[in-house]
Amino acid sequence: MKVAVIGSGGREHALIWKLASSPQIEKIYALPGNGGISDIAHCQDINLDDFQSLLQFVNDNEIDLTVVGPEAPLVAGIVDIFKEKGLRIFGPTKSAAELEGSKVFAKQFMKKYKIPTAEFEVFDNYDDAWDYVKAEDFPIVIKADGLCAGKGSFVVYDLKEAESALKKIFVDRIFGASGDRVVIEEFLSGEEASIIAIADGKDLVPLASSQDHKRAYDNDQGPNTGGMGAYSPAPVAEGKIFQETIEKVLKPAIQGMVEEGIPFTGVLYAGIMIVDEIPYVLEFNVRFGDPETQAILPRMESDFVEIINLAIDGDLAGYEIEWKPQACLSVVIASGGYPGSYEKGKVITGLDRVKELEDVIVFHAGTKKIIENGNVKYITNGGRVLNVTALGEDIKTAHKKAYQAVEKIHFENMHYRRDIGNKALTRLNMKM
Ligand code: AMP
Ligand code: GLY
Repeated sequence: MKVAVIGSGGREHALIWKLASSPQIEKIYALPGNGGISDIAHCQDINLDDFQSLLQFVNDNEIDLTVVGPEAPLVAGIVDIFKEKGLRIFGPTKSAAELEGSKVFAKQFMKKYKIPTAEFEVFDNYDDAWDYVKAEDFPIVIKADGLCAGKGSFVVYDLKEAESALKKIFVDRIFGASGDRVVIEEFLSGEEASIIAIADGKDLVPLASSQDHKRAYDNDQGPNTGGMGAYSPAPVAEGKIFQETIEKVLKPAIQGMVEEGIPFTGVLYAGIMIVDEIPYVLEFNVRFGDPETQAILPRMESDFVEIINLAIDGDLAGYEIEWKPQACLSVVIASGGYPGSYEKGKVITGLDRVKELEDVIVFHAGTKKIIENGNVKYITNGGRVLNVTALGEDIKTAHKKAYQAVEKIHFENMHYRRDIGNKALTRLNMKM
């Protein structure tokens, strides 16, 4: 079969890499893809929000299945549009994607279906929100309702920070209509993890647990980013926590969506905070995590195409995904300045040397391939540039292999965290 993957990040490189290993796949297209993806798939430069061109491309190339990477096209209703035209696509409908598209929807839904989450209130104007925070204790969390490319949540520690966050949202309107409403919620203190499942409308199968590292610098310092590295499995979210997240979060969510009349097919991602051994939902996402996917998929033994097809057909009940026993760890190398402004076009060196390493895969995110005097070169083309990923018999080995590979790669002003996986190593009591 012919498959198209929509998106251009490290997550999409990992999705395509895994899909390509299925014997069912004859050809893969990436819309638009990136430098590294172009080595294994046919890339076509189409904008994510240009649904008409995406539709036409899929029709013209007789593509059998489309897989959507990022949230924006899902929340904008790409699945509904493809389905109306009789095309096979993996992801939630526009209404179901509201679990990520609207924090207000997600919080009210969780309250209704008794899914553990922080206490909250909703406001649609500055004055009421301001009156509320003035009477609350700090820290507190202020979240814009709609999609904000991961930048819409503010953990604020005093009134001044709260005022600044509310002004940005309601007065300066930095998120536009995504900031028409805010959720203000209780601050939860604990360790975060990601539990992701594939759902077929009524049943789900979980993927392996993972943990992202959202802050830019070591020891969780600095500004929030899209994610600076991940590993799987996440010891903090194994065993009882994993089971509880499935039974008390993900299953009730899928069941709740059935009761709401908007069954959820696709990827449901619970970002959880573990407090006193209880998983509380910080957010739902309706797609694969980035960079979690880069650490999860190399561990998957099962045929990914089969899982996606079973999900689309509503046939997941009883299916169990097989996993390699190894651990996987992925380090993000970012452009200097990221998550703030950064330069593009830096030449990346060392990728050839990394290719020779066993159990190491480099998933590309913001890269572009250029041919100069007959030589292939990769240059930087985004904030997060590469996901250097390694499998190992345990987290410690995966950590070592990934960082050995990172050290071989270079581009001007690159930066990366040196502590990806440290929380797991401490928990497992393994010294590096
Ligand atoms: P979100 O946009 O909801 O995923 O939040 C982004 C990040 O803000 C999370 O990954 C957490 O690190 C932090 N955060 C969100 N909600 C809370 C909360 N209620 N308590 C503590 N930290 C939070
Ligand atoms: N890694 C965080 C996310 O995908 O939203």
